[in-house]
Amino acid sequence: MSSSTVQRAVIPRHIGIIMDGNGRWALERGRPRIVGHRVGASTVRRITEAAARLGVNQLTLFAFSTENWKRPAGETQFLMRLFLRFLSSDERVLIERGIRLHAIGRLHELPDEVRRELLRVMESTSRGDRFTLCLAVNYGARSEIVDACRALAGRAIAGSVQPSDIDEALFEGALYQPDMPPLDLVIRTGGDMRLSNFLLWQAAYAELWITPDCWPDFSEEHLMRAIDAFATRERRFGALLGSREFASPG
Ligand code: FPP
Repeated sequence: MSSSTVQRAVIPRHIGIIMDGNGRWALERGRPRIVGHRVGASTVRRITEAAARLGVNQLTLFAFSTENWKRPAGETQFLMRLFLRFLSSDERVLIERGIRLHAIGRLHELPDEVRRELLRVMESTSRGDRFTLCLAVNYGARSEIVDACRALAGRAIAGSVQPSDIDEALFEGALYQPDMPPLDLVIRTGGDMRLSNFLLWQAAYAELWITPDCWPDFSEEHLMRAIDAFATRERRFGALLGSREFASPG
């Protein structure tokens, strides 16, 4: 497997990653869990750059789930500070490289400073048209679906939508990132074989690729292995199609 193999293969347009195993990675080295998160932040930079270079259009990273608030306050506060540091240190590079930052989740429940900075960098990078980096922060897929239902119910009561108008396309337009491309590939690090409430709607036809290696050790080589595996999958979207000509439905 080499980067030329990847270039010939079908490149997924949209990859989602469940970045698991930061805590384990640190504990295995006799270090506190937060060290794994800090090293994980540099993996975010490397993999964003690699994905953009390989021709992927969007990377969505599960950075903080709605359930992660159950962790000790020291760890959640550290993660919030890490997000702030990432936003201030990487904003210029994102703009220079044509990368648009997007965030999905219940952003209104985040600490004020984190929400403000996320919205500010989303605005300052909004002209980036080479690649989208989407951070799922205080994100849960079930909450996203409930929030979309609430938005559509509100529009139905206001009379701007009829219940019979609601189809999959309209529903997707009410999700957190209405222009999100279909999710082609979900990668999970750390070895667990589950989706953990990540992009449940969007993952309906996504291919899954799981590595036992932890997120701080995830490299461009892993990314290319996942993309190579994706290119060998036959995606039928429920039909009896013997072709791998396309990367996503529609
Ligand atoms: C899961 O590992 C990881 C998280 C809950 C946090 C992910 C955050 C980062 C990678 C840090 C930086 C992100 C950005 C966007 C700058 P875990 O701690 O649950 O691992 P474990 O299963 O070993 O406990």
